[in-house]
Amino acid sequence: MTRSSIDADAARRAAALADRLAGAGEITDPAWRRAFAHVPRHVFVPHYARYEHTPDGVRYTLVSGDDPDQRERWLDGVYSDETLITQVRGVPVEVALAGGSRGGAWTSSSTAPGLMARLLETLDIADGMTVLEVGTGTGYNAALLSERLGSAHVTSIDIDGGLVSDARGRLAGLGYRPTLATADGRDGFPGAAPYDRVIGTCAFPNIPSSWIVQSRPGGLILANVAGGLGGAMVLAKVGQDGTASGRYLPRWAGFMPARSLKPAADPPYPEAEDMRETELSSDVLDDPAFAFLAQLQLGDASPYWATHEDGSQLYGLAASDGSWAELYPADDQGRHHVEQGGPRALWDLVETAYTSWEDFGCPDWSNFGITASTAGQRVWLSTDAGISWPSPE
Ligand SMILES: C[S@@+](CC[C@H](N)C(=O)[O-])C[C@H]1O[C@@H](n2cnc3c(N)ncnc32)[C@H](O)[C@@H]1O
Repeated sequence: MTRSSIDADAARRAAALADRLAGAGEITDPAWRRAFAHVPRHVFVPHYARYEHTPDGVRYTLVSGDDPDQRERWLDGVYSDETLITQVRGVPVEVALAGGSRGGAWTSSSTAPGLMARLLETLDIADGMTVLEVGTGTGYNAALLSERLGSAHVTSIDIDGGLVSDARGRLAGLGYRPTLATADGRDGFPGAAPYDRVIGTCAFPNIPSSWIVQSRPGGLILANVAGGLGGAMVLAKVGQDGTASGRYLPRWAGFMPARSLKPAADPPYPEAEDMRETELSSDVLDDPAFAFLAQLQLGDASPYWATHEDGSQLYGLAASDGSWAELYPADDQGRHHVEQGGPRALWDLVETAYTSWEDFGCPDWSNFGITASTAGQRVWLSTDAGISWPSPE
């Protein structure tokens, strides 16, 4: 296929994708429909990785637009409503997977267009507004924003300079020149503030206070507030008084965790303090509604999976203060045991959270909201005046 026939084919595919998203109700605003029909996603995703779960963990294989045998498959994926993985362990997939399939955590992707459309519409963006996007990734969303608002109204930042440079080249090739910068999203981007809208496409444990400071009063912030266990998207309105407040969105969505420029310190690993029976199995944390509440109770704790010396699979929780808990698989009598160590007994906190969650009537995240300012942040249940939890730092 020649370049121009790909372009003609891609233009048809982009228009068809916009139609499908409109048909599915993800796009309702004609201006966004035009933007999705106009921006060629294949320019931003020249290669991506497919993945599968194997007994040895996740394995990725490359789908490359450079390979004539894969071109049709590549374009089918690019113009589908799917999230496409573009970077593994900080390395572009075309480099990381050049020698064959491999595992590891993915570190950048092009978000599913339907999710992006829904979030952009949720932000209630209108002509003339300025937008900060945190998490440039491929640059596709920055292109959609630039098409919708004009490049001068769009700023997009990513912590990874290689991604920003690639995105800049692709955007410029299509005539878009938004402000792009390599920066940690925790600090926002004061250089182009104030913003009418801020959208985070990676997850933070709270709403970075810089986003509030850099927003205009009346502005909206759409953030994925989440930890390793759970979280959800929250839409917060910035007030005149420097606070931002709003509720979690009912329809769940989540992004990859934000990276940090500071290497994570290895937490201490204190001795086990007790081993006891517990009525809860780790399965309770598979329910995203409960995991959301458990995360509030557990701060920055994240899950891990380990193999015991007897070969059994353990479910673990670990926090940066060195607190840890390990759940053993049910014994012959179906009893669960837990071992814990460190300053906070994490499994005790899960049990307390579970009792509270049942007492509250098993609410999901859409019953919660957040109030944030530079002075601190609280997540509350039902109303701002109700029971609340401090957000993790
Ligand atoms: C899901 S991808 C973004 C997708 C992108 N919006 C698009 O249209 O392709 C998440 C991005 O967040 C970036 N990221 C991770 N941690 C970050 C941080 N602390 N500050 C800014 N960007 C970060 C990653 O490098 C990754 O590119």
